[in-house]
Amino acid sequence: MARAFFITGTDTNIGKTFVATLVARALKARGIDIGVMKPVETGCAVKDGALVPMDAVALKEAAESGDPLDLINPYRFSPPLSPNVAARLSGVEIDLIKIETAFKMLSAVHEIIIVEGAGGLLVPLNDDQNMADLVVRLKARLLIIAPSRLGVINHTLMTCECARALGIDVAGVILNHPAPRPDDASVKYNRSEIERYAPVLADIPYTPAGDILPELPEALLKVFK
Ligand SMILES: Nc1ncnc2c1ncn2[C@@H]1O[C@H](COP(=O)(O)OP(=O)(O)OP(=O)(O)O)[C@@H](O)[C@H]1O
Ligand SMILES: [Mg+2]
Repeated sequence: MARAFFITGTDTNIGKTFVATLVARALKARGIDIGVMKPVETGCAVKDGALVPMDAVALKEAAESGDPLDLINPYRFSPPLSPNVAARLSGVEIDLIKIETAFKMLSAVHEIIIVEGAGGLLVPLNDDQNMADLVVRLKARLLIIAPSRLGVINHTLMTCECARALGIDVAGVILNHPAPRPDDASVKYNRSEIERYAPVLADIPYTPAGDILPELPEALLKVFK
């Protein structure tokens, strides 16, 4: 049975996939057999008549995974909306058992599984269940991706507080810089303030396309050992 890590964020579009692919590449380079999942992806474009889950494809490539895309990504939808709404508009109900079944199949053949959520921790998956319910069901440790900007302390602590209240093991926070913020004075203080509450495992610099990708610190890689 693989060890599972669930990548959530304090928001959407803040670098979950960016960081997850860095982690997948780094673990792969260390000879670790890694599986990936993006259980639900919304906002998928249509290519040749089929929906393309870009995050799932990026994760699959980074992990050099030969697993079928339908196991990596059991649910994909066109509307760029939260999973429950996108599913409802598509006439589908997201079933956590279907996700868990795919997860177990991947778990049986890999050392580590990295699962990327969608949006944040309490994003609804259907009328009764949300992403946190899925984390609990998969017995995954949580990694919280947080964009270093004003407001991130509150968003990160809320996510940690919520996870801990639900019995989810928070492995740590990864601060990310999805855009340069030269005028944001908070950037200097975010790490030390969040560290008072949860381990900050990495501070990923802004890395525009074409630049050499950052090395991940040992503190982060150690979490996967
Ligand atoms: N450290 C970084 N340096 C440069 N660009 C970044 C960095 N982190 C994220 N980005 C860019 O920011 C955008 C959003 O990142 P990403 O797609 O990883 O977010 P996400 O949290 O996975 O979004 P979603 O909620 O849609 O899954 C992407 O264009 C990505 O390339
Ligand atoms: Mg993503």
